[in-house]
Amino acid sequence: MQISWAELAQQVSDCAACELCEDCIQKVMGQGDPNAALMLIGEGPGEQEDKTGQAFVGRAGDLLTNMLKAIDLPRDRVYICNTVKCRPPKNRAPKPDELEACQPHLLAQIALVKPKVIFLLGATAVRVMLGPNYRITQCRGQWFERGDIKMMATFHPAALLRDPRRKHDTWADLKLLRQELQSLGAYADLLK
Ligand code: URA
Repeated sequence: MQISWAELAQQVSDCAACELCEDCIQKVMGQGDPNAALMLIGEGPGEQEDKTGQAFVGRAGDLLTNMLKAIDLPRDRVYICNTVKCRPPKNRAPKPDELEACQPHLLAQIALVKPKVIFLLGATAVRVMLGPNYRITQCRGQWFERGDIKMMATFHPAALLRDPRRKHDTWADLKLLRQELQSLGAYADLLK
């Protein structure tokens, strides 16, 4: 039986399945439209996210907001979350055992939102959702089907801040995302 949002929030809040919860200020569940046709999955909370309890609110978050704006999507119409709900110390990448420990929370979120499309932001989201053999540089810009959900990866906004030359490819991925949402009949609803 599927759990409710309230039950999931409680499970995440109580979770001590890995060591990340020992050093973070708070769990960051994610936010946005809980019934969104489009879900975005990043890596994990950073400093600002840990302080505010909101996903993608730091510099990378501002860039993500602008990436969505570039295809006319208001950020509050999509659902945004991360592979792990606790901030890894010094913003290091989550370790495989931490990703595994947090995966049930992410899968429960996906089951509740029921998105038509998931946009994977960066290598960690790719590892969790597509598998450890997929490389962001090779798989970005391609559609994958998992059950009745379509998934595509693009570069993480933090990677774009480090290397703006990747913005060109990311823009191509965003246009493919818009096209797919249009062909699924989900784009117009996201604009409302
Ligand atoms: N903020 C997030 O919420 N996730 C990331 O992956 C990066 C910044």
